[in-house]
Amino acid sequence: MSFSVSAARLDTPACAQGLIHLNNAGASLMPQPVHQAVLDHLQLECDIGGYEAKAHNNALLERFYDAAARAVGGQREEIAFIENATRAWDMAFYAFDWRPGDRILTSRADYSSNMISYIQVARRYGAIVDMAPDDETGQVDVAALENLITDRTRLISLTHIPTNGGLINPVEKVGAIANRYGIPYLVDACQSVGQMPVDVNAIGCDMLSTTGRKYIRGPRGTGFLWVRKAWIEKLEPPFLDNHAATWTTVDDIEIRSDARRFENWECYFAGKIGLGVALDYGYEMGISETWERIQALSQSLRDLLARIPNVTVWDTGQKQCGIVTFSKAGVDPNRIKSDLAERKINVSASSRQLTREDLAAADVDVLVRASVHYFNTEDELDQLAAAVRALD
Ligand SMILES: Cc1ncc(COP(=O)(O)O)c(C=O)c1O
Repeated sequence: MSFSVSAARLDTPACAQGLIHLNNAGASLMPQPVHQAVLDHLQLECDIGGYEAKAHNNALLERFYDAAARAVGGQREEIAFIENATRAWDMAFYAFDWRPGDRILTSRADYSSNMISYIQVARRYGAIVDMAPDDETGQVDVAALENLITDRTRLISLTHIPTNGGLINPVEKVGAIANRYGIPYLVDACQSVGQMPVDVNAIGCDMLSTTGRKYIRGPRGTGFLWVRKAWIEKLEPPFLDNHAATWTTVDDIEIRSDARRFENWECYFAGKIGLGVALDYGYEMGISETWERIQALSQSLRDLLARIPNVTVWDTGQKQCGIVTFSKAGVDPNRIKSDLAERKINVSASSRQLTREDLAAADVDVLVRASVHYFNTEDELDQLAAAVRALD
C-alpha cells in the first residue's frame, strides 16, 4: 500500500458520511483495519474468554512492539505499552530518584500534565524547575536553554509539538546539547508520532512518550513509552507489579531488564493489537508522504483563515505542523466549536490551562484548534473557512 487520499478516505467511513474531522490532535478517526482488529479481539474475548483470547492472539500482541519500535527508530525491547501518553511520560519521569536541588530544564510550551508533575516533584523533593524562554519565532530558545544548564541539571524535558499550536520544537538541537552535557533527555512526542517522521536517534533522546489515539489513528486508551536500552536498568519505575518484576525470594524481587518494567500486567489487549495495526497502517502509507500532505494542508488552512476579517491565526514556530489555532474577534471560541459541530465540522477549543505559559504570551484564554490529517481535503478546509467567515 502506498499513500492515496482516496484510499485513506475509503478506509475512514465517517469521511463518506460527510463528517469533516479536524480534531486529529484530539483524537483522530481510526482506519477501518484498526477498528476491525479491535472489534475482532473483543469478539474473541466474548467467544472464548479474555485469557484465552490473549493466548490466541499472542503474535498480534507481540507485533505491537515491532511496530512501535519501527515508528520511532528504536528496538522492541525498548518499548512499553501504556494506556496513554501522560502515564507513559510519568513512568519515565517519576522513575528518577529526585533529590533537593535537582534541576529540571524545560520550555514554556510543555504540556500541562508535565508541568503539574514538575511542580509536584519540586514541592515534594525540593527540585527546581528551569523554564527556557522562547526565541523570536516562538520555539524554545536553544541557546538560552543551554545557558540554563548547571551541574545540578538532572533532566532536560521537552514537548516536541505542543498541544495548542503549529509549533514544532527543535528537539534535535536540544538533543545535541543534552548529549554534549551527558544529561538525560525526555521527549513528549504525543502530537508528533504518526504526524511526522520521528527518530529517537536523530533526536538524541533517552526517553520518549506518545499516545495512540491522535495522529497514529489508534484506539483510545493506548499509548507507549520508548526508553533507550542504556537507560532502562537505571530507571526504577514508580510502580511495579508481577509483570514488571519477579518475586524471587520471600524478601526480594528482580525487576525486568527490558522496557516492559514500565508496563502493568492488566491492560487493554484489544487496544494494544489495534495500536500495532495503526502503527503498521501509518508506516505503509509512508510517513514522509503523509507528513508532506499534512504540512501543505495546514498551510492552506492558515492562508484561508488569515484572509477572513477579524480572524487571527496564532501558530508560532520556524517549522509548523498540522495543528492550526485561531480566534475570531468578538466570537467565543466555544461557540465557534459548537456552531461548526452543527455543520458536522469537528474542531476543538484549546484552553490556556493546557499550556499556561505558552498562551500567556498570546493573551487569550481559549483558541479554536483545527488539526488536519492526511485524509482531509482542500474542499473540507474551504468549508471550514466559509463557516468561520459566516460566524459573527
Ligand atoms: C503534547 C501533549 N502531551 C501529552 C498529552 C496527553 O496525552 P494523553 O491524553 O494520551 O495522556 C497531550 C494531549 O493532548 C498532548 O497534546
